[in-house]
Amino acid sequence: MIRREIRITYQEFKKTDELPVIYAGLLLEARRMAGQAYAPYSGFCVGAAILLENNVIVTGNNQENAAYPSGLCAERTALFYANANYPDIPVEAIAVSAQNKNGLIKESVKPCGSCRQVMLETETRFNKRMKIILDGQNSILVLDGVDTLLPLSFKSSALK
Ligand code: THU
Repeated sequence: MIRREIRITYQEFKKTDELPVIYAGLLLEARRMAGQAYAPYSGFCVGAAILLENNVIVTGNNQENAAYPSGLCAERTALFYANANYPDIPVEAIAVSAQNKNGLIKESVKPCGSCRQVMLETETRFNKRMKIILDGQNSILVLDGVDTLLPLSFKSSALK
């Protein structure tokens, strides 16, 4: 038996004005989008903003449904729009922000497993790592690449 270890490193910022200006702007877009999410069932409103390599910003938010599984997370709403409309343009970064009835959530938002898997597919498709910026009142996390969020992942190479 061999015991192996996977480590991740990420950056933590206390306030948006500590962030590189390009990420701060993207995060503000994600916050704005969280404010117009459709989340009447959970009350958990999430916004995502994606920076493409051509400097276009694509946004999305969670869209819930009375038939619960028919809804979609903010990250996938934005990523699918980006990949549908800009099929040749890699994603540089995605910012995610979430708010509930008390406002911006305290601890940084963590994307669900399905969204991590879709982020990974986007990286694989364009062969480019993306920065992931996760918003919260107490801390803002910046991660470099989806493997930080999804180690030992299933990817297209497994199908070959
Ligand atoms: N949600 C997102 O949109 N993104 C996340 O990263 C976590 C969860 C949504 C799905 C659902 O509409 C609500 O938040 C509660 O799970």
